[in-house]
Amino acid sequence: MKVSFIGAGQVGATAAYMLASKDVVSEIVMVDIDDAVIGKALDMMCCSPLVPFESVITGSTDYSSIADSSLIVITAGLARKQGMTREDLLAKNSAIMSSIASSVKEHAPDAICIIVTNPLDVMTYLFLKKSGLAKQRVIGMAGVLDSARLRNFIAAELKVSPAKVEGMVMGAHGDSMVPLPELTLVDGKPITSLLDADAIARLVERTAKCGGEVVKYLKTGSAYYSPAASIIEMVTAILSDSSKMLPCSVFVSGEYGLFEMCMGLPVKLGKNGVAEIVELDLSAESSALLKASAEVTRANIVELGL
Ligand code: LAC
Repeated sequence: MKVSFIGAGQVGATAAYMLASKDVVSEIVMVDIDDAVIGKALDMMCCSPLVPFESVITGSTDYSSIADSSLIVITAGLARKQGMTREDLLAKNSAIMSSIASSVKEHAPDAICIIVTNPLDVMTYLFLKKSGLAKQRVIGMAGVLDSARLRNFIAAELKVSPAKVEGMVMGAHGDSMVPLPELTLVDGKPITSLLDADAIARLVERTAKCGGEVVKYLKTGSAYYSPAASIIEMVTAILSDSSKMLPCSVFVSGEYGLFEMCMGLPVKLGKNGVAEIVELDLSAESSALLKASAEVTRANIVELGL
């Protein structure tokens, strides 16, 4: 089993290292335009007797090294700096994604691809269109991250173990994301029965702005530990064919009344990628927020002329 990472910056390299630590795949390849990637791979390999793991990690500046990958995680592109929105990255990252899509089509057309580059939903759609891969095999990572942030804040507020909190954040990965308090559960109970409306609004607001809160302190980059852990959650669901329901950005053909874009929705992930898009019963308010979020993504797609 071979998993490749295109882009070995903070998110890509951290995710590759987390995957190696789990010792569930034989081969991990990191590809980057900067040959620092070769040193990062060597550095990680020297952890193998300590962690320990048997996965073999290599670094390369040559895209042909992704050949025969079952799964490819694409994190290449610019990250936000202080004061930028994810949409400010649109022009530069779309050029990078188009070129990566051609390389994947050439060297690993049968892989399942997880897209992480921002602005996430537009980049996932762009990659799908340019690579020609089947829609089930192109999946954007964002909802798992946004949900993890919400789950973390709720666990801290209620002083419970974070693993006990199940959360669901749908919609675009941006300020228009749609956290669903009615589907956010602690020990099976919705948080709407455990927290008052003001507390929920405060935690939801912090969740939506958490990426920016991290950027404010990092100054020259964006979050990477939690995006990397979110990638690993999706990789594990796919490799173990778990059918676990996770919010991911996927191509829509009428689900939730949406068409011809990629949007964060609950999906079941398995060995062929998206096994199913799950249609949950949303409140009228959440449906309206999801529609508004889709309009933001639509505007970006139009701006790119796709
Ligand atoms: C964030 C970036 C990864 O939300 O989009 O932190």
